[in-house]
Amino acid sequence: MTDTNTAPTAAATPDAAVAASDTASSVDGREFRLQCGQDSPLLPGQYVELDDPSGRVFLGQVDVLTASDGGFTGTGWILGVVDAGGRLDPRGATAFTRASVSTAGPDLVELLHEASGATLTVGALLASPGVPARLLPHRFNRHTFWCGQSGSGKTYALGVLIEQLLAHTELPIVIFDPNADFVRLGEVRADAAPGEADALRNRDIRVLRPGSGPGEHLRVRFRSLPLPVKAAMLRLDPLRDRAEYNSVLHLNAFEAENDPGALLARLRESPDPAHQALALRIENLGVLDWNIYAFDEPAATEIIDARPHATVLDLGGFEHADEPLVTALSVLENLWAHREERRPVLLVIDEAHNLCSPDQNGPLHTALREQIIQIAAEGRKFGLWLLLSTQRPSKIHPGIISQCDNLALMKMSSPADLAELAALFGYAPAALLAQSPRFRQGEALFAGGFVPAPSLVRVRDRITEEGGIDVKVPLR
Ligand SMILES: Nc1ncnc2c1ncn2[C@@H]1O[C@H](COP(=O)(O)OP(=O)(O)OP(=O)(O)O)[C@@H](O)[C@H]1O
Ligand SMILES: [Mg+2]
Repeated sequence: MTDTNTAPTAAATPDAAVAASDTASSVDGREFRLQCGQDSPLLPGQYVELDDPSGRVFLGQVDVLTASDGGFTGTGWILGVVDAGGRLDPRGATAFTRASVSTAGPDLVELLHEASGATLTVGALLASPGVPARLLPHRFNRHTFWCGQSGSGKTYALGVLIEQLLAHTELPIVIFDPNADFVRLGEVRADAAPGEADALRNRDIRVLRPGSGPGEHLRVRFRSLPLPVKAAMLRLDPLRDRAEYNSVLHLNAFEAENDPGALLARLRESPDPAHQALALRIENLGVLDWNIYAFDEPAATEIIDARPHATVLDLGGFEHADEPLVTALSVLENLWAHREERRPVLLVIDEAHNLCSPDQNGPLHTALREQIIQIAAEGRKFGLWLLLSTQRPSKIHPGIISQCDNLALMKMSSPADLAELAALFGYAPAALLAQSPRFRQGEALFAGGFVPAPSLVRVRDRITEEGGIDVKVPLR
């Protein structure tokens, strides 16, 4: 068993000097056993170079280290062997004895990135400062769960990842942004290095915001909303509210109407009692006052349909709590309705508990959650890929989390939450999960298919401007 109290941790990174006494052996070329001296610089999660007596060079990764008499014993995985062409061969490793162990240098780690196609530089390895940490862009064809307590740096790190995807892929991204954190995604920082900054400047980034101010607006085409969404918006049950529900079913005039007042008057004047009841409902709910209707402007669904490189949906700043829910639902329903077109899109939902909490049961919340569960379960093969960020795993419906093949974990102090994550994400090594309470802001564990091997990472600086930076306490 791992003794995490006495095993070294990445938070206490020493200089990567090599202890001559550290050796490794492997009976199958897949796992290795370690014997380390007391002054060993090795850490769980660290990449190591293993040089066997016959001259072969292996890349390995330390899994667990346990204090033992006068040093540490441990285990790890072998990620590949350097072949005659100087490339890393992930399958060619075979058994070895008494290999010397040292921390892997940047060149060896780079061979791993090349072998796996990892090109998105999200930061540097925590245990090997200066060695880039890269993710695999082609593995965003799976769902991703991003978790960490408030202030751990999730939104900032998400921004870093989105920049990398924009700079290095053609994958269209839709960002559900509850706090206007991504509204400046199109603004490259003045001090950003050229290269990726130039790539970002040339991307089509659309920012849709509520209200009537300058810029593009976040709008819904009511006419195009499926009936269940209209019903959820009007809190209508198909059986309990049969007559009104049926009126909505046939209410083409409502959709065509650009003057909400005139519509209401017509419903009120109708001899049909169901129309009159519907008029009362619409007025009581105040839905015609909502500032979400597209009228002559493009709806969010129409903008996304053209697949800009990124579309930021600024869901904060609406006046009525149901407006962001209807807007988000309209987008997700529309993407689902067109799923057979199989046009890939990454759906980044920050503060995802706002849209798919297991505990919110109003009609709009229920419809949203059901839609996200459906995308989580079946969207993958249609190119609808989710990236959900939240503070605790229990804040997201379990039917959604269980579909996530990629995990990013930032600082998380709660043992109960960590235990839940360990149960949900069996592919995340326990010794690395256990380090999360000691993470500093901007430090993360990446595990799953989108990273060549589970990695502890210090997230790099943003290239574009942040939106909703934390408010500072005024000091004297
Ligand atoms: N890697 C980083 N480098 C520099 N600043 C950072 C980094 N990560 C976070 N910050 C800053 O710390 C503050 C909090 O970070 P962030 O908003 O990303 O946290 P969060 O995990 O999303 O929190 P919440 O759950 O409350 O939304 C922000 O002002 C952000 O600018
Ligand atoms: Mg955040």
